[in-house]
Amino acid sequence: MSPRYAHITGWGMAVPEKVLTNSDLEKIVDTNDEWIVSRTGIRQRHIAGVGETTATLAADAALHALEVANLHPADLDMIILSTSSPEHIFPATASLVQDQIGAVKAGAFDLMAACTGFVYALNSGSQAIKSNGADNVLVIGSETLSRVVNWKDRNTCILFGDGAGAFVLQASEEPGGVMSAVLRSDGSGANLLSVPGGGSRHPASMQTLYDGLHYIQMNGREVFRFATRVMAEASQQTIEAANLTLEDITLLIPHQANLRIIEAAARGLNISMDKVMVNIENYGNTSTASIPIATIEALEQGRLKPGDKTVMVAFGSGLTWGAALVEWTGPLPFQRKVSPRQVRWTARIRSIFARVRRRIEGFLWGSG
Ligand code: ACO
Repeated sequence: MSPRYAHITGWGMAVPEKVLTNSDLEKIVDTNDEWIVSRTGIRQRHIAGVGETTATLAADAALHALEVANLHPADLDMIILSTSSPEHIFPATASLVQDQIGAVKAGAFDLMAACTGFVYALNSGSQAIKSNGADNVLVIGSETLSRVVNWKDRNTCILFGDGAGAFVLQASEEPGGVMSAVLRSDGSGANLLSVPGGGSRHPASMQTLYDGLHYIQMNGREVFRFATRVMAEASQQTIEAANLTLEDITLLIPHQANLRIIEAAARGLNISMDKVMVNIENYGNTSTASIPIATIEALEQGRLKPGDKTVMVAFGSGLTWGAALVEWTGPLPFQRKVSPRQVRWTARIRSIFARVRRRIEGFLWGSG
């Protein structure tokens, strides 16, 4: 059998309408625009409003991505949703998205590797394709970390923003797509960045609420040190794994956590910032959504074209880090245009019918 490749054929993003600027933050905590810009590069972030959740942002991004790929949601085999702010401990947010977009033949699961999650998800989706387990995979990174940030903690609340990004991966025998990936973890640093409460270690209680364990807790300096160490290293490793050299890389797309961390990665690789995508000023750290959002903006700016090779590299809680090398392609040729976004209503109606049917079946079963 000839080898299969996993190409990125569609992409989409969604961010909440509400924008929170640094000067807005000055009214909430003891901080200032000058400090935030000079220490992080962030000028504003998007914050989810009423009715906007990790699943709704993910579904919006997913439908945009399917439209670009010209793929009907019913043709998806798998949905992998990477998030650190799922709607619930369970069910998986991926299943909610599957229902919202009418992906009736897809398996769906959440993947948790914090800000590195999108790189992990990209690798899992491409491996499923390469091993013949799937033809069409939707990979999503979606976050509403504003819901788990302590808005009284200036060390963390200035950093994060909400948003979602999605890629469609499709099988092809043409070389290209996701060429290599390195995934790493060091759980000895688990305490450096976490939301300790609400899980099985510290189940939600009055005490966990009182202690604020349901909020993000972070040792910023330690995370900073770790990040500057691993970003360049993981990028080099994935380039080597693809049998390429740094000169082959058109663009580095790093996780957007802190401009100083990104600059340190560029220095570590000895590349100029012209070869690095940065858009942290407008979104803050959207965690696992930051790489797809940055990729889409790079495409819009004409910085990524078919045939270009790009490295996507991230770090995050876990600790986790990783990188993937992608040869950019774009949508596969198609004959008939499909309209994935129009199926949203059909999906909603199908979902309502499924719930009603389940009620009727339950009633009949219960009374029988
Ligand atoms: N406004 C004004 N002053 C502040 C603020 C603020 N928002 N936050 C901290 N300070 C003060 C501190 O109190 C400290 O004052 P002191 O010297 O009087 O004690 C001073 O500024 C310096 O504080 P540091 O913590 O040393 O600042 P640093 O330069 O390290 O920047 C930051 C802090 C931005 C958090 C940085 O450490 C960082 O970006 N770390 C990485 C965090 C990260 O990327 N996390 C996400 C990982 S991805 C994921 O998995 C979700």
